Amino acid sequence: MKEKQFTVLDSEAKEEIKFNIFIKEKDIQKKIKSIGKKISKDFKNNEKPPILIGVLNGCLFFMSDLIKATSIEMEMDFIKVSSYRGTSSTGNVRLIKDISAQIVDRDIVIVEDIIDSGLTINFLRKHFNSNSPSSISIITLLYKKEISEMEIEPDYYGFIIPNKFVIGYGLDYKQKYRRLRDIYVIDE
Ligand code: IMP
Ligand code: MG
Repeated sequence: MKEKQFTVLDSEAKEEIKFNIFIKEKDIQKKIKSIGKKISKDFKNNEKPPILIGVLNGCLFFMSDLIKATSIEMEMDFIKVSSYRGTSSTGNVRLIKDISAQIVDRDIVIVEDIIDSGLTINFLRKHFNSNSPSSISIITLLYKKEISEMEIEPDYYGFIIPNKFVIGYGLDYKQKYRRLRDIYVIDE
């Protein structure tokens, strides 16, 4: 049986945080199938396969399910960044692990679990642009459209969600709870 609520014990803060079920596994998978179909159609006449670049760690399940939902050849690579946010909205993104693929004259597709402030994706677009790919597309499963300060819109997204903290399906709270098959939203 699916848990409708999920309680997180934050041992540092010594408090319990309640999360409610938000997007069910079935609906996540349905949406991924439709994104998979779209990208297969959009890239099917490519001379060279697109390179999917997953943003670790959150992209883990999404990237895997997305690739399985496509019907074209794709290459893949991964990048890891960390973003620091002070009290103001201006944050700083730091590169932790870069890709190893050569992206010159290739179509690349960045795969994100969630776009929140948009800082990470803006940083990544600039980072990859300096290596002259033919094109850069952006896929995100979740999109906090209200608050994100995106320089451009993502090309593909799963769900537009409100500005609330979510966990599960790769998304973490203090590095935990990524394993959950459904996505849960904080109870406020
Ligand atoms: P950004 O604010 O768009 O740069 O978001 C960067 C990263 O913050 C995302 O890739 C996630 O790893 C993390 N993040 C943002 N919002 C959430 C959330 O609601 N739950 C879990 N992680 C989040
Ligand atoms: Mg992430």
